[in-house]
Amino acid sequence: MIKVLFVCLGNICRSPTAEGVFRNLVKREGLSEKIKVDSAGVGKWHVGEPPDRRATAAAKARGIDISLQRARQVEASDFARFEYVIAMDQRNYHDLSHLCPNEGSRLYKFLHFAPNSDISDVPDPYYGGESGFSSVLDLIEVASVGLLEDIKSRYL
Ligand code: 4NP
Repeated sequence: MIKVLFVCLGNICRSPTAEGVFRNLVKREGLSEKIKVDSAGVGKWHVGEPPDRRATAAAKARGIDISLQRARQVEASDFARFEYVIAMDQRNYHDLSHLCPNEGSRLYKFLHFAPNSDISDVPDPYYGGESGFSSVLDLIEVASVGLLEDIKSRYL
């Protein structure tokens, strides 16, 4: 079993969206018994909350239901449980590298798996409008395909 953890700042916008999109892709490929997906936040402000309604609506528009997911805070022990700990942006990456300095080999930035993208961070849509959530989804869909290829080539 390969385990993937997506991490952003609040765990209510980007990482729950990535969790939903990637889980959907894994299911479509018939790999749900081999790959488990979760998400968490660096911060604890939103622990126990559902995703931001804008994120839920944007995902629903693409046929993905993230409404039942609940925010939690990342823990150092997550680095022992997950083969992939995937930061949405450089700030998350930096914070995670301090949380578990000896587990750098499990830590990635998500857009590492979208090498043709001209940006390296999934932008935080929290303080912007609805359109930010749609462009976040575009990035997440591309990087999810690249991540699955990486898992297949290394583990499956
Ligand atoms: P996320 O977005 O990291 O993509 O979940 C944010 C959500 C909440 C906050 C910041 C970013 N906040 O400051 O509460």
